[in-house]
Amino acid sequence: TRPKPLSGRRIIVTSGPTHEPIDPVRYIANRSSGKQGHAIAAALARLGADVRLVSGPVSIADPAGVTTVHVETAAEMQAAVESLLPADAAVFVAAVADWRTAGTAGEKIKKVAGEGPPALQMVENPDILAGVGHHKLRPGLVVGFAAETQDLIRNAEAKLRKKGADFIVANDVSHESGVGPSGVMGGDRNKVRIVSKTGVEEWPEMTKDEVAARLAALIAERLKTIVV
Ligand code: C5P
Repeated sequence: TRPKPLSGRRIIVTSGPTHEPIDPVRYIANRSSGKQGHAIAAALARLGADVRLVSGPVSIADPAGVTTVHVETAAEMQAAVESLLPADAAVFVAAVADWRTAGTAGEKIKKVAGEGPPALQMVENPDILAGVGHHKLRPGLVVGFAAETQDLIRNAEAKLRKKGADFIVANDVSHESGVGPSGVMGGDRNKVRIVSKTGVEEWPEMTKDEVAARLAALIAERLKTIVV
């Protein structure tokens, strides 16, 4: 039997949202379901890769054939990803929270009559993709995502450079994207463009599983040219 195209390749995938705690019962989150990231992890595993999936809190099952590490916060996701280096490739699909609160209250913040709402002080989270894209152990192939509601291509091209990625998979998450009825976030379909230094490739709307299979094939093709 012929070896699978990604046999012997170690690939890190991030997926899902992160949760940033405010106090013991509250957190900041976003609408990422983890469907696209988990599908990509599964598709890479089907091509024979040794996949390490770092997932934020999601309600979907761990994909078959993949080693999944569960984390909550961006800081935990970053530590998990960096502990998995070196790798042949890394695919950053997680919707990492851009900000966290400056500190986490040890007790539930109480609603006090007359005092008004608490002022939450926010600090920026680390950019996990940018950290790996510029890391001394940078994988040979680094893929990021860009979910935008406007200026999709221009933002994706800026991200390629800033984050040190080889590809940015850009998807329009605006309500006008035409992907419906529930849209891209949480839905089963996606419409993406692959942005690289050499140009933009537009893929037709398809299911998230189909996007995953096609991206896994593209990654396998690219890794063929990268000798370790
Ligand atoms: O800057 P933006 O959040 O739009 O970038 C999206 C890309 O960067 C995605 O691939 C996402 O997984 C990654 N990212 C990250 N860490 C962050 C923010 C984004 O890895 N703190």
